[in-house]
Amino acid sequence: MYTERVIAEFTNPENVGEMADADGVGEVGSPTCGDIMKIYLKVEGDRIADVRFQTFGCAAAIASSSMATRMIRGMTLAEAWSLSNGDVVESLGGLPPAKVHCSVLASDAIRAAINDWRTRQGLPPWDAGSRGCCGEAEPENG
Ligand code: FES
Repeated sequence: MYTERVIAEFTNPENVGEMADADGVGEVGSPTCGDIMKIYLKVEGDRIADVRFQTFGCAAAIASSSMATRMIRGMTLAEAWSLSNGDVVESLGGLPPAKVHCSVLASDAIRAAINDWRTRQGLPPWDAGSRGCCGEAEPENG
């Protein structure tokens, strides 16, 4: 069953919608279910000034998106890069095992958006490495 936190995030998600003037956009699809998540970032200096998401997925994916976007607002890009899906799941008070893969969409879409921003800046993308379901990867220098 879903936790009260998950239900609250799903029924009243924050940061939903498109961002027309985003500085970085990341879109990922789940190989498990085919659902899609898109993250839009507004970056000021090295910090995430604003963030929006669009998720075509289940309740767990929408709750994960809402929680993850609330968590990364104000973070540096490196801090947001280090956010794992495990961090998101923990903040949600847990997810049913069959739904943990939904939270991976959020952390992966954030990383894709960060690398889109880096590419637009002429910077090399950070290497996500080989990540499993709950793996973490550190940003490389530069
Ligand atoms: Fe597809 Fe949850 S079942 S994102």
